[in-house]
Amino acid sequence: MARRIGLLTGGGDCPGLNAFICAAVSRLEESGQRPVLLRDGFLSLLQAAEGTAVEYPIDGLDRMRLSRMGGTIIGSSRTRIRKDLLASAGEGVRRLRLDGLIAVGGDGSLKSAHRLAELLPVAAVPKTIDNDVRATEFSLGFQTAVQTTVDAVERIQDTAASHGSSFLVEVMGRRSGFLAAAAAEACAVSGVIVPEQPWTVSALRDVLRPGAVVLVSEGAWQDEVGEPTDEQHLSGITERLVRILSKDSGLTVRGTVLGHTLRGGPPCAADRLLAASFARHAVEAVSTGTSVLVVRRTGRTSVVGIEHATDGRRFLDERDLAELNVAVVGR
Ligand code: F6P
Repeated sequence: MARRIGLLTGGGDCPGLNAFICAAVSRLEESGQRPVLLRDGFLSLLQAAEGTAVEYPIDGLDRMRLSRMGGTIIGSSRTRIRKDLLASAGEGVRRLRLDGLIAVGGDGSLKSAHRLAELLPVAAVPKTIDNDVRATEFSLGFQTAVQTTVDAVERIQDTAASHGSSFLVEVMGRRSGFLAAAAAEACAVSGVIVPEQPWTVSALRDVLRPGAVVLVSEGAWQDEVGEPTDEQHLSGITERLVRILSKDSGLTVRGTVLGHTLRGGPPCAADRLLAASFARHAVEAVSTGTSVLVVRRTGRTSVVGIEHATDGRRFLDERDLAELNVAVVGR
């Protein structure tokens, strides 16, 4: 009987997930295995344990169109498999008759994948527009999000220059500034604020002038600015800064929050290629019954032991910051 391999997407969505699903489904079918698409991330395993139907139908998927679409057709959730949920997840695995699992996700989901590897072979695949999974240089979705940011920032640069106003543009990046830094460099903005670099409002004022655009990572809060009203969603830093700066800088300061626009949309070519090679390595590993984390390092996709799924987050380091041509506020 064909081996049944579950496939799920966990955590916040990002471009490239559907491309990954299509590539993995094709690879699994080619190798004579049965892909089992699971709805809503790890929640599916807990629901399956309760007898809920969680399989997403594969028949009729228009793979060519789907692989270009943003989001994840099988849905996602932020459900994690904590230690106390492992038995219930195991019951879900049993009822679904899974012989292996491919789980795509960010830091939290990768930890859940690692835990599930106690029960069955798991291939964990990193995705996040934040690009902050320590074990890999690239996570699925990041390169598209950089391009989406660049497109938006260039439009704002047009308006900033035309009106002589200064803009703060907020991008996602909960704890790390990879997205803000990459887009800032690509657009040659006047400055960038990242969580890794302590900064002050006065240092920000120094880079603001008429027509300036400064990129702000949503997670770059400093005591001087206050604290996010909502710890979970971190939003509000730009709004707060616009209020502070408008009072005393003598400039017209405007703010734009790009937020979830950065998580959607079709994947760029680089993310489609990454999805395809991540899928190939993930399928290869689960087919041989090994548990792995799929990674991209020095331009190549490969696999490392599943224990690396718990390596945690990656941050901009001293060298990353030093290499930027754009002004890092506070540095
Ligand atoms: O982890 C990816 C991420 O995009 C973060 O940058 C951001 O803080 C978070 O997701 C937002 O998640 P939610 O959709 O739950 O607001």
